[in-house]
Amino acid sequence: MFGILGQLVPAVIAAAVYGTFKTVTSYDAYFGRSPSSSTQPSGPGLYCTQPYRVYTGFEDAIWKYPELATCFDVLADGRFGSVWNSRDEISWWRKLWIREVDGWVFPGFWDGHAHLTQYGMMEVGVKAYDQTVPQIITSILTYLEKDPTYGTRSKWVLGTGWDQAYFGGKMPTAEDLVSNPLLTNLYIALYRVDVHCMWVSPAVLRLLPDPLPPTPPGGSIPSNGVFCDNAMDDMILPLIPEITEDDIENFITTAVPALHSVGLVGIIDAATAMKEVPVYKRLAESGKLDFRVYGMVECIKRNSFCDLEKYHFADKAGQFTLTSAKIFADGALGSWGAALIEPYSDKPTRGSMLINETELAKVVSQWYAADWQVGVHAIGDAANRAALNAFEIAMKLHPDIDNDKKFKIEHAQIIHPDDQKRRIDICKKAGVRLEGCIVPSIQPTHATSDMAYALSRLGPQRLKDSAYRMQSLFPEVQVRFSHPPHPVLGSDFPVEPPSPIEGMYAAVTRCSPRLETCERDAVWDDEKLDILQAVQGFGRNVGWTGMLEGWMQVGQMGGWADWVVLDHDLFSKKVDLRKVKVKETWIGGKRVFKREAEPVVEDEPVVEAEPVFEGIKVQA
Ligand SMILES: *[C@@H]1O[C@H](CO)[C@@H](O)[C@H](O)[C@H]1NC(C)=O
Ligand SMILES: [Zn+2]
Repeated sequence: MFGILGQLVPAVIAAAVYGTFKTVTSYDAYFGRSPSSSTQPSGPGLYCTQPYRVYTGFEDAIWKYPELATCFDVLADGRFGSVWNSRDEISWWRKLWIREVDGWVFPGFWDGHAHLTQYGMMEVGVKAYDQTVPQIITSILTYLEKDPTYGTRSKWVLGTGWDQAYFGGKMPTAEDLVSNPLLTNLYIALYRVDVHCMWVSPAVLRLLPDPLPPTPPGGSIPSNGVFCDNAMDDMILPLIPEITEDDIENFITTAVPALHSVGLVGIIDAATAMKEVPVYKRLAESGKLDFRVYGMVECIKRNSFCDLEKYHFADKAGQFTLTSAKIFADGALGSWGAALIEPYSDKPTRGSMLINETELAKVVSQWYAADWQVGVHAIGDAANRAALNAFEIAMKLHPDIDNDKKFKIEHAQIIHPDDQKRRIDICKKAGVRLEGCIVPSIQPTHATSDMAYALSRLGPQRLKDSAYRMQSLFPEVQVRFSHPPHPVLGSDFPVEPPSPIEGMYAAVTRCSPRLETCERDAVWDDEKLDILQAVQGFGRNVGWTGMLEGWMQVGQMGGWADWVVLDHDLFSKKVDLRKVKVKETWIGGKRVFKREAEPVVEDEPVVEAEPVFEGIKVQA
């Protein structure tokens, strides 16, 4: 559809077409005020690239070209000011103040669904990604070598990232975690890569009653030592030593610099625990967050309604808000936890709902009646159907509530063809503008990561009709003369790596950014997005669905002065998105990240040290 133009037109042609580009806002930073020195690295001023290397975050309403410019102002209050098409439009005296930017400028990237504290916890804890069991044991020992105080009842070894795909498809056991004698009595708990299961050590198992109580509904215990979904929530999480506010602050401040380095300026935090809220508020208000977080609150009791006050930015830099709630309808596909209408193709189960339909409709309606936005995690087609039912019921029960952008489906991964159509019908019936109605929030890298097993889980027909929709969720009717379509994209980090550019790559190629070659069914190709949709999906569309519009204009010139400098143009036909590097990241007119020049690589062979713990050689 309209994709071809946005994708293929080189920047120069786009610039020529937009020769009549107008300034976006009418602020004037300079009259009556002298600009700061051009030698300062941050702060207000006039920034210019080579011609047409600034993407403004807008596109032409009809032809969908990205709008490009050359110079932009940053005002003293941390917002973008005017934008200039070319240097010729700038008066001679202001030209004296130009700061040269070496690269391509894009509005700062946003992640539409991510988990900030879990990412920080992952950064602080053991990393078990892409590893076999012996490699994970080695990782734990290396971790303990750095800080041997971990592993006690009051300070567990925590980590994230394992996937039984690396264990020959077999779920691990508690015993596997203590295959090294140094670990025998330690308290160890590792999240599966999808954060839906936890693998624990025998010491943790000993805290549970023997024999184990019945597995709670919506949970599973696939092996002696692994607890999934409600079994993890009810039986394991309560045993973990309480995470303090200091821990949370440590997780956040550890995560944020890593996120800056991939060009992120903000996220929708897809499950903000109540306990995190005061920490975010404090960091934001003291100006120490250096990041924008739009939280989706999760009550202390998962999948419930808790009567709390909405929180709009109190900090003038606009760094934390909380007006959305998170509900989990089902689990994940990888662990057969996603709730399906028909049984899985590779196991006689339909997965399970984490909350029954009646209760889901009730909780969704409660949040909606209190005028909150509600995001329902729904991966399987049964969960997606249940979410639609719940939204429909909520709108019928409370016709007085403004229904624009009030509902999101997180993941929206497998949607029955009837429900793909029904989503639009529900919106039409309720009189919601389509763009703001039941917004799917999608992770392009989930599709490419799940590709390895999606066919066996779902079978060919379901994969073809129902799974991993992207382009078809944004029908053409929305495009012309109305609000642009709005794929809201994210990574779900730490489930996937946080790089938004890798996400864009997955969205436009439907290939894994981590693999050199890409073999896939034609099914995957039909749902590609174009690069303009992908860039906006990791930017302004996220702000828009987070209701961060108006003066804030997330991801657009005119709003907060959040931008990134890239070493290549994302809109160039020739660019390999996997190689694009973020050189700088700016938030509110302040530079928060600058990539150091790459050190010259010496050609010496790297000798990997074998991890040693307390003098004993580790078998890896
Ligand atoms: C649904 O869940 C609620 C709360 O857990 C429970 O009270 C109710 O009986 C359940 N309804 C059905 C039909 O299972
Ligand atoms: Zn998530």
